[in-house]
Amino acid sequence: SRNIRLAVIPGDGIGVEVVTEGLKVLDAVGGKVETTTYDLGAKRYNSTGEILPDAVLDELRGYDAILLGAIGDPSVPPGVLERDLLLKLRFELDHYVNLRPVKLFPGVETPLAESRPEDIDMIVVREGTESLYAGAGGVLRRGTPHEVATQESLNTAFGVERVVRYAFEQAQARPRRKLTLVHKTNVLTYAGDLWARTLDRVGLEYPGVQTDYCHVDAASMFFVSQPERFDVIVTDNLFGDIITDIGAAVAGGIGLAASGNINPDGTAPSMFEPVHGSAPDIAGQGKADPTATILSVAMLLNHLGLTRQAARVEQAVADDLLERQTNWTARTTHEIGDDITARVAG
Ligand code: IPM
Ligand code: MN
Repeated sequence: SRNIRLAVIPGDGIGVEVVTEGLKVLDAVGGKVETTTYDLGAKRYNSTGEILPDAVLDELRGYDAILLGAIGDPSVPPGVLERDLLLKLRFELDHYVNLRPVKLFPGVETPLAESRPEDIDMIVVREGTESLYAGAGGVLRRGTPHEVATQESLNTAFGVERVVRYAFEQAQARPRRKLTLVHKTNVLTYAGDLWARTLDRVGLEYPGVQTDYCHVDAASMFFVSQPERFDVIVTDNLFGDIITDIGAAVAGGIGLAASGNINPDGTAPSMFEPVHGSAPDIAGQGKADPTATILSVAMLLNHLGLTRQAARVEQAVADDLLERQTNWTARTTHEIGDDITARVAG
């Protein structure tokens, strides 16, 4: 089989450090991978004013997948790189599924005293291209006492149906076969109604999947009080952003949370990234945990159909996490990466 062509965007802050470790693991697992690195992020913006040139975006479309570290730096006003780089990639490459597993590995500490690994094992299917993230809205009389700011949530029948369908497929492939819609239908009546009707209609095609509904505020509570309620969750872009941070917290912290921005139709490459940000406060100190990136690499391998390699990476991480509990030692970013790499190779 031909080589996998991978575009790598280390980005800013700890993104660079964790991506180095992710690539080390990818190399050890033995896939034939050709990587090309793109220097997008704060440095490029500050020195050239460029964020995501059209030519670069077009080039990125040609890869099999993208690995991204993290974007954002205090030298750039908030929102600039987020909107014009990260979100632009997600929108332009039609990453309509933002796949975020929330899974407690054995040996990992959770703040939930009563919960065991079998209780925290879900997949959040976060919509990735619509909702409040679409940027609809505007401002009137800005800077005056009469300023009016509107920010509208965009939800299309097409966009909702395709992500709901993807979530049903995920649920059908898991032992519990349960799909929960998380929304706020009691207040967001137009969008909520579209989501609820779509779930019901598409659900007719998946009689083996049990469906459930939960308001986002209640879901936030259940994430910490009864996480075992959830198997697969489907939700809109903003709700998914928020609940997956709660999910990361209950499953061992943001240092372990992986994600995939998926284009299920294959019309553009999918992009894998840790859920965490660039953490400028600890950048360059070898303090970042590369595990989230390494688990994102496992998701990447799975996405490319390299399921055996993906399982090996995930097993190596699971073993390392167990070892952390029984035999804890302080390790740098490199050391964690080296240890997981050794397990993958060995
Ligand atoms: C995430 C991040 C992004 C988001 C930001 C950086 C734009 O919080 O990946 O969850 O809101 O999606
Ligand atoms: Mn987020």
